[in-house]
Amino acid sequence: MPNNLDASFYATTPIFYVNDAPHIGHAYTEVAADVLTRWHRQRGEDAFLLTGTDEHGEKILRTAAANKVEPQAWVDKLVHDAWLPLLNTIDIDNQDFIRTTEPRHEKNVQKFLQHLYDKGFIYRGEFVGNYCVGCEEYKTEGDLIDGEGDFAGQAVCAIHSKPVEKLHETNYFFKLSEFQQPLLDFYAANPKFIQPESARNEVVSFVRRGLEDLSISRSKEKFDWGIDIPWDDSHITYVWFDALLNYITAIGYGEDEAAFEKRWPASVQIVGKDILRFHAVIWPAMLMAADLPTPKQVFGHGWLLVGGEKMSKSKLTGIAPHQITDTFGSDAFRYYFMKAIAFGSDGSFSWEDLSARYQSELANGFGNLASRVIAMIHRYFDGTLPASGPDTEAELEIQKIAADAVAAADAAIDDVAIHEAIAQVWTLVDALNGYITVQEPWVLAKDEATRERLATVLYTTAEGLRALSVLLSPVVPKATAKLWSALAAQSLGDLADRPIREAADWGQLPAGAKIAELEPLFPRIEQDAETK
Ligand code: MSP
Repeated sequence: MPNNLDASFYATTPIFYVNDAPHIGHAYTEVAADVLTRWHRQRGEDAFLLTGTDEHGEKILRTAAANKVEPQAWVDKLVHDAWLPLLNTIDIDNQDFIRTTEPRHEKNVQKFLQHLYDKGFIYRGEFVGNYCVGCEEYKTEGDLIDGEGDFAGQAVCAIHSKPVEKLHETNYFFKLSEFQQPLLDFYAANPKFIQPESARNEVVSFVRRGLEDLSISRSKEKFDWGIDIPWDDSHITYVWFDALLNYITAIGYGEDEAAFEKRWPASVQIVGKDILRFHAVIWPAMLMAADLPTPKQVFGHGWLLVGGEKMSKSKLTGIAPHQITDTFGSDAFRYYFMKAIAFGSDGSFSWEDLSARYQSELANGFGNLASRVIAMIHRYFDGTLPASGPDTEAELEIQKIAADAVAAADAAIDDVAIHEAIAQVWTLVDALNGYITVQEPWVLAKDEATRERLATVLYTTAEGLRALSVLLSPVVPKATAKLWSALAAQSLGDLADRPIREAADWGQLPAGAKIAELEPLFPRIEQDAETK
């Protein structure tokens, strides 16, 4: 078994615009990064998850103005009332939370800019072009589509369906064009840098078409909610240039070199596919210019769709995460989105699909398995875990399925195929349910002559539940913690750091352990609550 104890794992989510409250698309990114980080921690790695908020830029300034408050007051309120509570709503175990208005960020963004300016990668020039405030992005003509309805006859942003602004400004530019070949060489040498494959191909062909220098400042005459350009305080930093640097300012860049070197480069940066180019083109070029290592991987996930379109607050299709967790709980939220949508592909959310999977997979498949096993240990052995008799083919088969599930799920996590990892673990849920049906412990219990066999069956299923607790803890941490404690498995250590790769090592639960009662892990949900 490889020893990963010294390995460090650093995952990031995008930092979220605080112009509005979070919807389930944002929560989706958070959960994926959290599941990966928890899994790596259970591999024995020093795992660190960073998330945070992107608080500068015109979009936020306009929202604050529309709400008649100062931008700082607006972002403080949104962060405290909406974005920090989100972490609790969906049970995110992040090690840090960075806000781009914090001094640790602003100061070191300026350091980074000054460094690039001194190295000759930044120059003053004329910008003429289009800008979408919704995307906070410069747009070429090719990025625009024909508007509809109120905007018929105008070119609009393909994502926001709103007209773009025409800009003509003197700005500072980053020499992005110089990095075309270095980036292409880098992608070729690091085929896993951009994942999934479709995202990689899209980015590579985009870069092959040529890169233009990037405007990285805006004149304060236009608006002034951002970080001052250090050598020219009549300009502020372009919000994306500022935001991307959060991944290094949070871990000590410019301030604590030892801490920075311990974590950087990031192991995986999880982003939605709409912001992949920023992360897979601009970001590595910025780092190359500063002579800093590039992240090991950028993974572009798909969108949650409503009516075939990206769910978004601006199109009024956003669903707040608590609308789901209030009824189904945070574990079901996490499980559903990670299992039902192949990570990397788009997926449509529906209440019907959520509630069907809750009932069949979580309540009947896993929850009921746990309840039955624990109830039978109480009924037939007074709540004391019996010692197993000799294993037969059937028990060896369960042990093999468990070992295969661990290996396959762990390999799927290396490919960031979270849905696949869960599917692999589920082979053990299904196998244990099948084993109980075939072994019929309730029949074995009727005859004293088969008491040892009954003990073997219940020990095997309890061990199966122990393995499942360990394997599913990154996905459904609350339910598995309840199960761990019902199995009296604290004697083995804290569930959150039980080694994934030892999950199938059989015979860990000590015979004689006092098994506690277990309330239903996924209680029945009343029909009217399901459909809202
Ligand atoms: N602030 C920038 C990111 C800067 S990172 C240096 C930003 N913020 S965002 O709030 O608009 O989006 C954050 C993340 O949420 C993105 O990864 C985006 O893809 C994701 N999602 C927003 N809507 C989504 C869906 N409907 N579905 C899935 N993810 C979606 O972009």
